[in-house]
Amino acid sequence: MDVDAASFADRVLGWYRRYGRHDLPWQRQDAYRVWLAEIMLQQTQVSTVIPYYQNFIERFPGIGQLAEASIDEVLRHWQGLGYYARARNLHKAAQVIRDRHDGRFPESFAAVEALPGVGQSTAGAILSFAFGQRWPILDGNVKRVLARCFCVQGWYGRSDTMKQLWYLAESVTPELNAPDFNQAMMDIGSMLCVKSRPKCEACPLKSICASYRHHCQADYPQRKPVRAKPHKHTLMLLHRCGDQVLLWRRPPSGIWGGLWSLPEVDSARAIELWQQSFLQLTQAPQTFQQDVIRHQFTHYSLDISLAIIELENLPQKISDTDNYAWVDIANLSQHGLPTPVRKLFDSLT
Ligand code: ADE
Repeated sequence: MDVDAASFADRVLGWYRRYGRHDLPWQRQDAYRVWLAEIMLQQTQVSTVIPYYQNFIERFPGIGQLAEASIDEVLRHWQGLGYYARARNLHKAAQVIRDRHDGRFPESFAAVEALPGVGQSTAGAILSFAFGQRWPILDGNVKRVLARCFCVQGWYGRSDTMKQLWYLAESVTPELNAPDFNQAMMDIGSMLCVKSRPKCEACPLKSICASYRHHCQADYPQRKPVRAKPHKHTLMLLHRCGDQVLLWRRPPSGIWGGLWSLPEVDSARAIELWQQSFLQLTQAPQTFQQDVIRHQFTHYSLDISLAIIELENLPQKISDTDNYAWVDIANLSQHGLPTPVRKLFDSLT
């Protein structure tokens, strides 16, 4: 991928000076505050975070106070922000910093990334905002900007897609002004390059954005492909004798667990064998095969064929009387039937 990194960064930084966010309460603060803000911002919007951030800092003004507090009190100050694992990790990380880093926030990438709750992108954000270091970031907003600007193929669950995005993030991050650049990329992602209806006309990357040029912004970032559902097939047996039909109670677990349904076999060749074993019939009765109906489950679709079998007399013996029953058609509604089976009956009567 050919990236004119200097031009990319110049556009982003030029935009940031005029339109970016410069007055967030955690900007130009110490590493503890930057870290706290980045953790709060991991799953939550800026406007929601601000009052929580201020309240938290008031009660826990430094790493020491946070490390010494009880987890219950930390969680109380997190109450309402959600994703409480963040608060537990923050508290644990404060204790790691107290115990292994003399209470001072670490300045090396490896040490920051090793803190509970801090991943590659958050580590880069903290080190660039707090210490002016040059690290690329790749949070949700930045991923979207890069995926659109460079028409990155694949979805975020693919390792080659993520590798490509990290390569791009690394390539476009300038040697100078990395903190402003990182803040600007987050701002462009959350203010302009929003998920639906991006405000491309106001975007400083408009003239170099591949998806803008090809009018395919809506196709990026690419989504996880929807897998075609597998098809399964079954053959249901409808034994009919006058007004009576034979129902089978399905096993308690699995699809339609415990509902009354029709006996099933894999194929027409198995019908006779089934009748010999379960109804102890000696002669094959007359059978009509019906069309297939398709039923959609979440993870597969089921094609149901129906064999209608007319019996002259009720068989004398059923091998499993607990789970098979002859039921009068008029009384079918008293039995819990799966929807497609109910539809099958409706189509016959
Ligand atoms: N999301 C994550 N970090 C952020 C930051 N520093 N500013 C705005 N949004 C963010």
